[in-house]
Amino acid sequence: MTPTPTIVVLGSLNMDLLLRVPRAPEAGETLLGHSLALLPGGKGGNQAVSCARQGAHVRLLARVGRDADGQALQDALARDGIALDALQVDDTEATGRALVMLEDSAQNRIVVLPGANATLQLDDADLARHLQGASFLVTQLESPLPVVLQAVAAARRAGCRVLFNPSPMLPLPDGLWPQLDTLVVNEVEAAAYAGCAVSTPAEAVVAGQALRARGVGRVVVTLGALGVVTVEQGGCRLQPALRVQAVDTTAAGDTFAGALAVALAQGQDLAAATARGVRAAAVCVTRVGAQVSIPTAAEVDAQPAAPAASTP
Ligand code: RIB
Repeated sequence: MTPTPTIVVLGSLNMDLLLRVPRAPEAGETLLGHSLALLPGGKGGNQAVSCARQGAHVRLLARVGRDADGQALQDALARDGIALDALQVDDTEATGRALVMLEDSAQNRIVVLPGANATLQLDDADLARHLQGASFLVTQLESPLPVVLQAVAAARRAGCRVLFNPSPMLPLPDGLWPQLDTLVVNEVEAAAYAGCAVSTPAEAVVAGQALRARGVGRVVVTLGALGVVTVEQGGCRLQPALRVQAVDTTAAGDTFAGALAVALAQGQDLAAATARGVRAAAVCVTRVGAQVSIPTAAEVDAQPAAPAASTP
């Protein structure tokens, strides 16, 4: 029997305003759109849902406003069995929102209004309690950086590994890198943090090695349709992506990160966990919306096997 790991996710909750358009308007242009829908999102919420649907016990550390969006987001997370005992409700700030403009080409553009996410605060005693017994802390950068750094330090003290997805990008202190077990970055983030161009798997290896030299345990660079490059002590691999017809890539990275964290927490090695993440993300991009498109473990199991990995 695969063990059921406990994963703590610290991150954002947003109500996504999904605006479907034929294409993004030019500056000064007015365009007729197709539709507007309100759907649960936010990188923290999405990663929590991905972990839960892959079979982990999940506790979410996040903050919403005391409003209808905040309640709808909590209701959706509760349906996935996510523990919300640490969720904070802000009496003055509105729940975070994100405008997701989705083009017919499947390209998206996202603008986030942080709202209550920006007022998340935690004390060390609460963090220690929430992290007790967890195998991973999963976090990103849509929550205040000081809180993220505080949680990473608390996770280390609690003996809990950290999977960090630094999105959206911010300057980070040098002391953070050695505290990270697993760093998940896309090509833009890898290039910015490593200080080199990243558009090919070979360049992703160079960036991953530069980040490992700063103390990160293992680096995972997502390259969209090109696949995923992993860099760890034992070497580097290129895990090709599955070929699917993408309609919306929103939350694909979050789906990948959550599935990766659960597989690692279950004791799979980085190669197997990456292949699992790639299969989960392949399902997500074939559906429209963030949390609504994140697959269950059974849906990932039903996918074809990921293509064989190679040396980048
Ligand atoms: O990663 C996708 C998410 O980014 C969206 O759900 C949106 O809320 C933004 O946080």
